[in-house]
Amino acid sequence: MAEDPRTPAMHTAMEIVKGALSAVLGFPLGRSTIGSKISEGDKGRITVQLASEEKPGPEAMLRVQEVINGIVEKDLSCHVFTMARAAADAAYGDAMYDKFEVPAEVTTLTLFYLEGLALHAAPHTYLPSTGGVGRIQITKERYMTAKRQLEVMFNVLPAAGASTTLPPPPPCPTCEPPPPEAVEPLRTSVPRLLEEENGTGGEQGGAPAAVAGGSGGGQVVTPWEVEADEEVDYNKLVVAFGSQLISEDMVARVERLTNRRAHRFLRRGLFFSHRDLNQLLDLYEKGEKFYLYTGRGPSSEALHLGHLVPFQFTQWLQEAFGVPLVIQLTDDEKFLFKSNLPLAETHRLARENARDIIACEFDPAKTFMFSDLDYIKELYPVVLQIQKFVTFNQTRGIFGFNDSTNIGCIAFPAVQAAPSFSVAFPKVLGKANMPCLIPCAIDQDAYFRMTRDVAPRLRYPKPALIHSKFFPGLQGPKGKMSASELGTAVFVTDTQKQVEQKVKSSFSGGQDTKEKQLELGANLSVDVAYQYLGFFLEDDDEYRQIGEDYAAGRLLTGQVKKRLVEVLWEVVGKHQRLRAAVTDEQLERFMSVRPLEY
Ligand code: TRP
Repeated sequence: MAEDPRTPAMHTAMEIVKGALSAVLGFPLGRSTIGSKISEGDKGRITVQLASEEKPGPEAMLRVQEVINGIVEKDLSCHVFTMARAAADAAYGDAMYDKFEVPAEVTTLTLFYLEGLALHAAPHTYLPSTGGVGRIQITKERYMTAKRQLEVMFNVLPAAGASTTLPPPPPCPTCEPPPPEAVEPLRTSVPRLLEEENGTGGEQGGAPAAVAGGSGGGQVVTPWEVEADEEVDYNKLVVAFGSQLISEDMVARVERLTNRRAHRFLRRGLFFSHRDLNQLLDLYEKGEKFYLYTGRGPSSEALHLGHLVPFQFTQWLQEAFGVPLVIQLTDDEKFLFKSNLPLAETHRLARENARDIIACEFDPAKTFMFSDLDYIKELYPVVLQIQKFVTFNQTRGIFGFNDSTNIGCIAFPAVQAAPSFSVAFPKVLGKANMPCLIPCAIDQDAYFRMTRDVAPRLRYPKPALIHSKFFPGLQGPKGKMSASELGTAVFVTDTQKQVEQKVKSSFSGGQDTKEKQLELGANLSVDVAYQYLGFFLEDDDEYRQIGEDYAAGRLLTGQVKKRLVEVLWEVVGKHQRLRAAVTDEQLERFMSVRPLEY
């Protein structure tokens, strides 16, 4: 009788190959295995779903082989344990599953876990550690373009002295289920590569920003792409990225420390997530000043209302905490990432946008604004330090770069990271290791996961972050706003008439007829007018009342929209007046390298 080829060594090899593929090719571990087979002669085959369109080149496959060799050489412990399925689901989510559903009757799972690299629910026996597998050699791969699937064949040459006829080893003594936090990076992202890879100790949720199919719930949120089937699920995003929700206690703490009422963006949860904000506030409480850092990519002449959100909030933070601020204008980024913008144009737009930013009423004595093109000489030493400690692999995971990405894009994240470290501003802040707080929209988080990963290696403090939700487009929660499609957003250059028309045509959560609205009320969660009021109507009582009445059918869509036009025109009209008043001298002052007050 032929022996069963499905030995513990072969099952272990399969897990190693899967972990290495996922880590190198940058697809999530969970739900990505289409099929696997172990056959006679210590042969294995696994088919996986890739995240990118790109066929993995020979270099990538060589890397996979290297990583596999590394895992075997390191003789890592294989943790195998059983758990109630419900508990495992709660702790690990999708990360442990293959593409196919485990039948509902299965209520207890056997899990295989390789620290930082693999987690898999499968009822197999494994070796106690990876070294026992022997040599795993990839023999062939096949890429199926239409399905974006990769099939990988491998052979295992058993380790000397290993015998496939040995009984399965006893369960390892240390096989406690890992805590959910330990597995968190695997749930939502690709496995961390081995330490030698300039390993960064793994910022939680360290890669990639794209979490399609993972517990990001089919959402893709990167600096260049926001895609969700329905509304963006921000709670899932927080889990996927490994940041923290802002609690009511934290808002109260900000109010205590600043002696003023929290900004409405904080009160209404529009800035909803953070990293290390408590630690930053601890320092502030002890008298240590931090600085603020935010930015804008100058890709268009006119800003829309969504662009104002981070700046209005940053202005409030500057005033409330009395701290200095640096604002980066990434003319380099927009040149590199957009196909049709000449460099001279993004440089010009940077100065134009700077006027809009000044119109948000920043304190000229406490604010330094720079175009990357102009300030790069000061920034470059810090950029280089960062570049030296971030590998292509890491950015590929975080940003979804591939072999056809232009190398300027690949290098750029270090430029956005650099202002997070106060050493980048010797003549402006004049202080190394000053704590930094970055207000930004959640899609920028990828840059700062990378930044926070690299910070300890450079012995700089990690920047703290505070994240906003996205500003909805006029077409509703699914529609994306675009600076190039004028109908999709309200611009700060719009006339009152245009604001009115745009609000009128905006997506409504109200009913089609007056009668139905009176009876059924509006669905606030998709109603653009109501959501815009959340961003710009200052009065909490009025805002709450409108919500209650509109949802109950006591208010009609037209009435809510009418109020919104008033509110928005106040914002837009004021912006236009302030912007027109910005002088060339003021612009020069904000953009000149000089010590800031603090
Ligand atoms: N990349 C950002 C954009 O495209 C601009 C930016 C640079 C930024 N540095 C920043 C945004 C810091 C927020 C915080 O708009």
